[in-house]
Amino acid sequence: MQPTPFMPSRAVLREVIEMTDDNHLFKFTIDPAQLGKREPGQFVQVWVPGVGECPISLCSERNDEVLELCIRRAGRVTDALFKLKAGDWIGIRGPYGHGFPLDEFRGRDVCLIAGGLGIAPIRSLFQYVLTKRYQFGRVTVVYGMRHSIDLLFRHEFKALLTRDDIDIFIGAEEMMDGPELPPIPAQLGRVTDMIRLASLDSNFEVAVCGPPVMYPYVIKELKGKGIDEHNIWLSLERHMKCGIGKCGHCFIGGEFACQSGPVFQLSKLRFLAESTECEGVPR
Ligand SMILES: Cc1cc2nc3c(=O)[nH]c(=O)nc-3n(C[C@H](O)[C@H](O)[C@H](O)COP(=O)(O)OP(=O)(O)OC[C@H]3O[C@@H](n4cnc5c(N)ncnc54)[C@H](O)[C@@H]3O)c2cc1C
Ligand code: FES
Repeated sequence: MQPTPFMPSRAVLREVIEMTDDNHLFKFTIDPAQLGKREPGQFVQVWVPGVGECPISLCSERNDEVLELCIRRAGRVTDALFKLKAGDWIGIRGPYGHGFPLDEFRGRDVCLIAGGLGIAPIRSLFQYVLTKRYQFGRVTVVYGMRHSIDLLFRHEFKALLTRDDIDIFIGAEEMMDGPELPPIPAQLGRVTDMIRLASLDSNFEVAVCGPPVMYPYVIKELKGKGIDEHNIWLSLERHMKCGIGKCGHCFIGGEFACQSGPVFQLSKLRFLAESTECEGVPR
């Protein structure tokens, strides 16, 4: 068969960790030589034979034979993924796109902000930052969700909360912990309330990933803390098909989000038409 850029490589499911009913962490065994080097904020195209493909963010900073993806059951492809058993195989293409700007972040204070499932790419970034902790100044993580029962990576956050070299603010709009879940000191409030609690200033580089509706509010808070638009990096979720700049599904204001993004600098994003993420945000 002729090689094409759409040819996936084989990934074998080794383990599934059920974090909530609809959010599972999938661990696949891959041949690292078949995928390019993976960087936080990039995504892969996941192919379930006979069903279809969808883009999924890298969820860990690993570059070895294990690929970790945090997947929410949303439709056809993700439904099929939830039916896989250990030993089943799927196809993976990528990694694609521009992730978080690690060179810009190095040597700076960093704040990583996640809303809901946005924690998936943010996890790969905070793992990266923590394995190279000496390369960064102050590190702050802000994580917001609708219900506290939806808090993902609960055991990892429990461990992180014991560290004194990282500030963590977890906020839920409604407290709903099940008895079987280890308690987490989440506070009542939105992600913007958590940003207000964090001591951030103009020395911070900020990475944000979450539902588009939260972006204008988050940007306003960050600007209120004196953080410049050049130092705010937003990961966008656009409808994607090919992942490689061919189909046009992800076109936004003259750019293919799958190639120029999914992570964009706010100061650049502003000038792209259809960037609803900036609507109503004062300059
Ligand atoms: C760069 C990028 C990174 C991403 N990273 C992740 C990630 O890390 N994890 C993750 O889980 N997702 C991620 N996504 C989102 C994921 O790609 C989408 O959820 C994708 O559409 C799932 O494909 P699907 O075939 O399962 O769902 P689709 O069939 O495409 O369904 C998508 C939407 O349609 C709705 N829908 C589907 N079926 C029905 C129905 N019968 N009735 C009503 N509504 C319906 C769903 O609620 C959902 O909102 C990412 C997307 C992008 C662009
Ligand atoms: S997803 Fe096809 S051009 Fe971006």
